Amino acid sequence: MPDSYSLLILPGDGIGPEVMAEVVKVIDWFQANRGMSFDVTHDLVGGSAYDAHGVPLTDETMAKAQAADAVLLGAVGGPKYDVLDFAVKPERGLLRLRKEMDLFANLRPAQCFDALADFSSLKREVVAGLDILIVRELTSGVYFGQPRGIHDDDNNPENEGGRVGINTQRYTSGEIRRVARSAFEMARRRRGKVCSMEKANVMESGILWREEVQWVHDNEYPDVELTHMYADNGLMQLVRQPRQFDVILTDNLFGDLLSDAAAMLTGSLGMLPSASLGAPMANGRPKALYEPVHGSAPDIAGQGKANPIACILSFAMALRYSFDQGDAAAELERAVERVLAEGVRTADLMGPEGGSPVSTAGMGDRIVAALAAGA
Ligand code: IPM
Ligand code: MG
Repeated sequence: MPDSYSLLILPGDGIGPEVMAEVVKVIDWFQANRGMSFDVTHDLVGGSAYDAHGVPLTDETMAKAQAADAVLLGAVGGPKYDVLDFAVKPERGLLRLRKEMDLFANLRPAQCFDALADFSSLKREVVAGLDILIVRELTSGVYFGQPRGIHDDDNNPENEGGRVGINTQRYTSGEIRRVARSAFEMARRRRGKVCSMEKANVMESGILWREEVQWVHDNEYPDVELTHMYADNGLMQLVRQPRQFDVILTDNLFGDLLSDAAAMLTGSLGMLPSASLGAPMANGRPKALYEPVHGSAPDIAGQGKANPIACILSFAMALRYSFDQGDAAAELERAVERVLAEGVRTADLMGPEGGSPVSTAGMGDRIVAALAAGA
């Protein structure tokens, strides 16, 4: 490990700052006990950046993100910001980070911890042992395609209301190939299977997607098993028999939907981490941003009810993919598993039988204690 890694922390809005405070405890523990050194900087993103600067991400913060070895983000958004112009909404800050850092491969693992199998909305026997990885394209597709906007539909007197809203699904072959490679690489380190999802039955971009993924497979990864599914069927299969999948490869919008559904299979949206990776930097490590899959949960913000595990596991992914600390990542994941096995629960993990949940800080403290106890 070099002398020190630079880590930019952007807690964001809602429960973001609360869950990030628990990650900071974990970071401090690794610095004190595992000889690691992080050069940590805190900054603003989303609504909190808008409140301070009138924009959801300043150019200065963007530059810091570009220079950091890794960025760790909490969550953005909240009802207070719903009235803002589209261009300065909190989400634009996150999308700018993803786009300008060119973080094209979004890894969203969905693992069902045994201790939580009963909390899933699906039956235990369907989700127990679940371990899948969604690889979502993150910098293109309908989120970014041109033309886009809301316009007056002047030439169409038949149109009641007189307006038209436009977004464009656009993918280049190069964009598809590079994210496909990420999925095949991941599959090689897992169970060797990729299922690619699109809507080739109704969308030309879906046809191109299918052809290019197949091309990358045939030319570069023939050892990996590749299947294709229409995304609607894929989502149905995900709730019917989720363990049939290993790696799911899909585009930006379908990946957004599929990953929320996958999260729920695991018991709680409060459990799922993610890594967004770009091209390698000079040091050979990819540009990277780590964030929980959950949002800012404004309804419970500031009450100590949020589950910090998704954010803590996002830091574990940073240890693995940005800091070359796979052993430390596994150690942290075991600590989380141990605490869950001991029955420690935040409010989102309470079953119908109830019980007394720990607070956000309580969960963070227990995880640090499990690390100290040698999980
Ligand atoms: C996600 C979120 C974001 C997305 C929002 C906050 C812009 O839902 O990361 O899944 O749609 O990508
Ligand atoms: Mg989403």
